[in-house]
Amino acid sequence: MRTSKLKPVSYLTKVNKNFIRNAAVNSAATAKVTEETIKTIQGKSWQEIPGPSSLPIIGQLHHFLPGGELHNATSFEFAKKMILKYGPITRLETLGIPPVIFLGDPESTAQILHGDNWLPIRPGFESLDYYRTNYKKNKSSEHYGLLTDHGEKWKKFRSKVNPALLQPKTIKLYSSVLDEVARDMINRLKSVRGEDNMIKTSFDVEMNLWSLESVGVIALGDRLNCFDPNLPEDSPAKKLINVVHEVLILAEELDFRPNLWRIFSTPKFKRAMKVYEEQEDLAKYFVNKTMEKFKSKNVTNDEEKSVLEKLLEIDENIAHVMATDMLFAGVDTTSNTITAILYLLATNPEKQGKLREELKSQQEKRPYLRACIKESLRMLPVVSGNARKTTKDYNILGYTIPKNMLIVFQHEIMSRMETHFPRPHEYIPERWLVGKEDPLYYGNAHPFAHNPFGFGVRSCIGRRIAELEIETFLARLIQNFKIEWFGPPLRIKRTSLNYTLPPYNFIFKDV
Ligand code: HEM
Repeated sequence: MRTSKLKPVSYLTKVNKNFIRNAAVNSAATAKVTEETIKTIQGKSWQEIPGPSSLPIIGQLHHFLPGGELHNATSFEFAKKMILKYGPITRLETLGIPPVIFLGDPESTAQILHGDNWLPIRPGFESLDYYRTNYKKNKSSEHYGLLTDHGEKWKKFRSKVNPALLQPKTIKLYSSVLDEVARDMINRLKSVRGEDNMIKTSFDVEMNLWSLESVGVIALGDRLNCFDPNLPEDSPAKKLINVVHEVLILAEELDFRPNLWRIFSTPKFKRAMKVYEEQEDLAKYFVNKTMEKFKSKNVTNDEEKSVLEKLLEIDENIAHVMATDMLFAGVDTTSNTITAILYLLATNPEKQGKLREELKSQQEKRPYLRACIKESLRMLPVVSGNARKTTKDYNILGYTIPKNMLIVFQHEIMSRMETHFPRPHEYIPERWLVGKEDPLYYGNAHPFAHNPFGFGVRSCIGRRIAELEIETFLARLIQNFKIEWFGPPLRIKRTSLNYTLPPYNFIFKDV
């Protein structure tokens, strides 16, 4: 059995204690400095941040039990409920999870993200980290990957992979192969479309097959053949898709909701360890298969090289770990994003028409296409928030936030605020294109109200890849189909990611 990782947080630093002592002496002498004055200068304790009522030992846990206001809520749902009820800074402190502060204020978000931009620590994936660093048997690897590594180890890894994954020039080289994947996917959609122009297979699985094939071809340089009509349910590709999904669900339940796995092995913890191992083995299966092919391949020129090939020249261990993580982080993210975009375009036919006109014009730059994607990420982002573990003390909205505190920035809530984005619940891609004089101009929003790919040196390393994949596929979809939607709105389940849920009432008519 493991011992608890929950450690008492020291609320006051040495400096603060000295300050209080001095202030108390002064106060006795002059009777002018009150406790309130001290709090105003140094900030109230983070434990005074508003939040649901607390009981001794269990903290706010009773709110999560049946009958409690947060019962069965996912981390996003309870954060939203709390921000609406208690304001832009609110606190969760309960048995089974380290204390968390939720922020719905862009300026405070900026303060922490800027302040922590040297070696930022993004909490979450704590159970995956436990699997990688403690649980798994074969720990030969020096690096465990960007999702779970921190400090100098993370920095060394990130600086080696940044050029291969983030340079726009390098990523653009994958345009034609991604277009090939997109065209194949269009053919597949046509083949699984019924007479009523609806997709007969599971739409979410179709989008996952597209995203895995797309990220696979960039990571490994080879087609995984996800679109094979005879792909069996127990094929490695289908298994990988299912396992990625389960990893993300379990990670949210273990890392962001009250759960006792930090104290003893709960059934969910045991399941997670099994699933993490399966994901790793499946990704390794694809990496090893590609490595075998490399052996028999003639040397490829730089333009044709996959991320794996490029990284192998730098560091073999890093190459394997990065390719494995791409097959994990690059699947559900892009698939749920494209589904959300299609839904918003289907329910806003005039915007869809405008986009089709831009695509017909064959112009090289496609600003409306990009604006449609940006506006979807604002309204239905696949990642609803971001997180940091503070590396120093902060004074935020009048409260002292100590080092090592978990902060969650609620971007989905902030990017739907009227103050930042006028008419926030309307799909208006134009807001990303109009000039300063227009009240809709996106630049009027606080720059930290909307952050779909995160911030700074730790921001999403797959951003450029994701954008290119989505732009390429979306363009092909709109060129081929007039997409409609009927019935009730698309449902979203918010866990580690925002998952779109069936029924997918899309109609794909030929253009
Ligand atoms: C629409 C698609 C995507 C969205 C919205 C998205 C969003 C994000 C966000 C918000 C973060 C956290 C950034 C931070 O802490 O500041 C992140 C990190 C990350 N993403 Fe993505 N992502 C997407 C697609 C991808 C793809 C396609 C890949 C792989 C090729 C990927 C790989 C990663 C990795 C490895 C990290 C960790 C980076 C680090 O800690 O250094 N993502 N992503």
